[in-house]
Amino acid sequence: MTTLDRPEGATWWRGAVVYQVYLRSFADGDGDGLGDLAGLRARLPYLVALGVDAVWINPWYPSPMVDAGYDVSDYRSVDPRYGTLAEAEALLAEAHAAGLRVLLDIVPNHTSDQHPWFRAALAAGPGSPERERYLFRPGRGPGGDEPPNDWTNVAGGAAWTRVTEPDGRPGEWYLHLFMPEQPDVDWTHPEVRADFAKTLGFWFDRGVDGFRIDVAHSLAKQEGLPDAGHGATPGHPAWDRDEVHDIYREWRAVADAYPEPRIFVAEAWVDRPERLARYVRPDELHTAFNFFFLTSPWRAPSLRQAIDETLVEHAAVGAPPTWVLSNHDTARHRSRYAREPGGERGVNLRHLLGRPADLARGARRARAAALLMLALPGGAYLYQGEELGLPEVEDLPVEVLDDPVWRRSGHTDRGRDGCRVPIPWAPGGPPYGFSPPAAAAPPWLPQPPAWEDLAVAVQDGDPASMLELYRAALRLRRAHPALGDGTLRWLEAPDGVLAFARDPGFACVVNVSGRPAPPPTGTDVLLASGPLGPDGAVPEDTAVWLGGQVGG
Ligand code: GLC
Repeated sequence: MTTLDRPEGATWWRGAVVYQVYLRSFADGDGDGLGDLAGLRARLPYLVALGVDAVWINPWYPSPMVDAGYDVSDYRSVDPRYGTLAEAEALLAEAHAAGLRVLLDIVPNHTSDQHPWFRAALAAGPGSPERERYLFRPGRGPGGDEPPNDWTNVAGGAAWTRVTEPDGRPGEWYLHLFMPEQPDVDWTHPEVRADFAKTLGFWFDRGVDGFRIDVAHSLAKQEGLPDAGHGATPGHPAWDRDEVHDIYREWRAVADAYPEPRIFVAEAWVDRPERLARYVRPDELHTAFNFFFLTSPWRAPSLRQAIDETLVEHAAVGAPPTWVLSNHDTARHRSRYAREPGGERGVNLRHLLGRPADLARGARRARAAALLMLALPGGAYLYQGEELGLPEVEDLPVEVLDDPVWRRSGHTDRGRDGCRVPIPWAPGGPPYGFSPPAAAAPPWLPQPPAWEDLAVAVQDGDPASMLELYRAALRLRRAHPALGDGTLRWLEAPDGVLAFARDPGFACVVNVSGRPAPPPTGTDVLLASGPLGPDGAVPEDTAVWLGGQVGG
């Protein structure tokens, strides 16, 4: 029986484990050094054997690739570098036949500046209907030389760029919360709303099971686009506005019009769990990434707080939490946990890099974190390569950096390439089986020599490997009735130890205390992230799954 036939079909997403395929770095089928659909199709058996329920594929649409595909120029097609629409349809059919669901990534806050709408807006000039799909405004100050307001883009500069009008004169400014090549669209415009709904339907009609929504919290802007001042959220004129929720009620209706469930997961970097829960109210999105967990330092009180607040706020709206440890925007968690935890949080956590690191410790904690995450109630997302224990590549030469953040930050922030390096599939030196033999080009980012031992084929069958830990955990999770969607009950435990039970008959103990901890009595070990003490004690930075009569 495949996952698709399982009786819980209608609510599969409540406890699903979804694997994030960063397409350009997953597997290269045609030998141009860039991952593609052919590569992904060939590796579907790997994902089935890993034991995930679904994949989320980062944007595959035609794009100038200024921001690795988050600058979309055509939402209803496939970039030729990745393949064709026919190959995408074949992938969907093959994934479904193998029991995997497929989520795409929709980018609704902005288009590419090469999108036909934006090109038409530039050509048509001020006051034209073409400009109304975006946020064009006259500048402030003498001659309109100053941006219309004080908003900044994510790389730190002004969120506005001034255009040269068709008559050659400096003219209006347009808003871009991200790069200048990513102009924000105006979500109050009916045509914008209708067109994105059409895009959802286009892919749903082809069998796509859902969408990850890129920067889901930025679509609605406050009327009049006032200055942000000190920029605190909630209350910021651009981020996490209450008006954004109307859009998701519309999207939910689009999804619900299909007999088989079509689902959404929001990428929303909001301030508090209570704000996040608003995105997953019953008539809105199904799930939302939990970045409070992702950004928590490896300390018990902080992890416990992220978990507790999330559980409470999600339960209040009847939605399952969605746990995640890494993605294509954040420093890889093995490398984060290799640093002694500071109390500080940050969006991408790259500030941790560069500090003294103990990667062996990072790997132990990453193993424990995986068992913690996969034991929590709700769903989870894995970022490709975490199941191999890949670290962040921190020493990419600056000449190869591709992320626009590097350039736009004035070369102060190296950007996100270090977590995007192509996957090692086989030993034997780069490209480590990422590209076919005799490929025409090397991988788009260079792979480090130390990745030889992390290759899939090297870890395969080694019971001590990260890969086999993930496989074992996912196998148990699928078979155990207590895991996935549901609730938890905290157990009494020494300071610095997270211990909880899930019914029926399951417990998880995660030792973040720095000292060995006893397991709960009356339990049997189902799986441990590392060797246990002779008396069954759980060493520091170790997690254990237990079965049996759990008291406490
Ligand atoms: C999201 C994406 C990120 C992208 C940004 C702009 O945060 O995950 O990769 O750069 O949106 O689309």
